[in-house]
Amino acid sequence: MSEQNTIDSIHHVLVVGSGAMGTQIGALFALAGYDVTTSDLETNALNRSRDEVRRRIERLAEKGIRSRNEVDAALARMAYTTDSMEAARNVDFVLEAAVERLEIKRQLFADLDKAAPEHAILATNSSAIPSSLLMDATGRPDRVCNMHFFNPALVMQCVEVVRNPLTSDKTVETTAELARRIGKQPVRLNKEVPGFVANRLLGALRDEALRLEEAGVASFEDIDVAARTALGHPMGPFELMDLVGIDVSYLIRMAEHGQTGDPGDLPHPSIEKLYAQGRYGRKTGRGWYEYAG
Ligand code: CAA
Repeated sequence: MSEQNTIDSIHHVLVVGSGAMGTQIGALFALAGYDVTTSDLETNALNRSRDEVRRRIERLAEKGIRSRNEVDAALARMAYTTDSMEAARNVDFVLEAAVERLEIKRQLFADLDKAAPEHAILATNSSAIPSSLLMDATGRPDRVCNMHFFNPALVMQCVEVVRNPLTSDKTVETTAELARRIGKQPVRLNKEVPGFVANRLLGALRDEALRLEEAGVASFEDIDVAARTALGHPMGPFELMDLVGIDVSYLIRMAEHGQTGDPGDLPHPSIEKLYAQGRYGRKTGRGWYEYAG
């Protein structure tokens, strides 16, 4: 294992994928002083990501949470590219936040392994695909793990650091310390389990909410009201599904089902229906709820 795999060796981070998660995760690294390159397949996606980062972090300056100079410096530290592999050549840490499809991630990890310096850690933000399914696509399984953020990543404090059976202690320590340095609270998982910890807790609530709605016990709006006003949750389970993305929920369940083969892990029929209709939640203007603009 490379001796350079330490927190102080990390200066430049590559974020692969400029969706909602990759965009905000990139901003977090830049705000903490890291050079960041965000990559995606399409220039349009990168342009949207750049605009979103600017909008979100300009607000920090407007509200006096960060100084104008800090925000400008963070923006100046961010670069965008459609060539992930060229960008990987001089980075110290890779956070993959691409689509939740195993075959795509395995190819990415195989390519990143060839392109990135030997000391670099290759982490995936996936909540559904454990790094044990990716590590053997690389020649550095000890430097592969999950570093799982929550949506919206700029706001939510938790980052799950999940080791696979071959992840080294040093990789876990470095990744957990990196989470701390960008202002997050790391939660270490000593073994992989589908859904990790937070999503398992959340899944229990969501599944019960879907059963109650399907049985006609209460409307989804009222179930959300109950979660907010009786349990003190910031959002109800249906609002949260719309925030995270119906497509994301669907693909996560499909990936879990792919790992366990358990029919109980398949997406709930209501989620399948919304997914088939392209009602992905806030991002498409319609999911459980409708969103103006
Ligand atoms: N992106 C970035 N920042 C956002 C945001 C977003 N999408 N939505 C809201 N915020 C920020 C706002 O800018 C605001 O910050 P300021 O006060 O500095 O302006 C702050 O969050 C509060 O926003 P609002 O006042 O508009 O609304 P709110 O108080 O209801 O908070 C929320 C919004 C933070 C999303 C809150 O409702 C919440 O915590 N919801 C629960 C989110 C949650 O459970 N996330 C976990 C999802 S599961 C997951 O992510 C797992 C996975 O694997 C996919």
